[in-house]
Amino acid sequence: MCIYIMKVYALSALVAIVSVVIYYYRSYIQKEGPRARNLKVFTADELQQYSGDGVKSTGTEPLEKPIYLAVMGKVFDVSKGRRFYAEGGGYSFFTGIDGTRAFVSGNFTKEGLRDDIEDFDDEQLLGVEHWISFYESKSEGKYFLAGYLVGRYYDSNGQPTPVLENILIRLARAKERREKKKAYHKVVPSCDSHWEQGKGTTYKCSESKRSPRKETFPGEKTPRCACILIDGTVEGANVLKGEHVLTAVYDGCDPSSSTCNVPSKD
Ligand code: HEM
Repeated sequence: MCIYIMKVYALSALVAIVSVVIYYYRSYIQKEGPRARNLKVFTADELQQYSGDGVKSTGTEPLEKPIYLAVMGKVFDVSKGRRFYAEGGGYSFFTGIDGTRAFVSGNFTKEGLRDDIEDFDDEQLLGVEHWISFYESKSEGKYFLAGYLVGRYYDSNGQPTPVLENILIRLARAKERREKKKAYHKVVPSCDSHWEQGKGTTYKCSESKRSPRKETFPGEKTPRCACILIDGTVEGANVLKGEHVLTAVYDGCDPSSSTCNVPSKD
């Protein structure tokens, strides 16, 4: 009897301990904020102190202080990549600032190194996300998250701003569309295209029952040339699941021909 009671007590204690551990673990996970993970919240001036100025990219001596850069308000320690990021490295301009926009635009001038991306389309947003994943996962700890930058994307408590929340929602949608686009492109093939000086661009569908169309996918700015069925059958609705693709006949092209030439404008 006594042993039975002890077993019940031991089991209850175990359940209580496990519950407490789960409770604290969950509240830790939910508190995504920097304090929960011992991360720092930087002001722009503070971040600027970690630009790697005065550190030679070819040097081998230990760094006096780390080198940081920010992407969409996340501050990463890139000290182990000093050959890229310290003075003389090809990408030193990214350090000490949030140059999110330039990670996609490739405009590395003073004007281009900015953090605003609200006008980016799906593909550009996914491009930014690619770089964040790169710094988060790079070489198993070569680079790592050091904190958050107060400003466009995080507030002074290191919590996401409405701008960031909106971009994250758009990113989630962009990922959904990326999958739909992949499936759709398998159903509606792309044209072959060829540019020639003086002649312009020739678009061609390899199947004679198809004709080139300028197609804009939802969420994107840059069109592609799609080969749609000449008989008017609309394909891909089952994979698009409610997304609406815009198609237009190229200027001056015969909508029932499988080839089409668009002269250059100049
Ligand atoms: C939007 C345009 C571009 C961005 C944002 C970009 C960014 C970067 C960054 C951040 C790194 C350092 C990676 C690390 O920390 O490990 C890097 C490395 C590199 N990039 Fe770019 N890059 C761009 C375009 C290009 C282009 C057009 C080329 C080639 C012509 C190029 C060639 C390279 C090479 C070769 C490396 C590695 C260098 C080495 O290992 O020494 N990049 N790039």
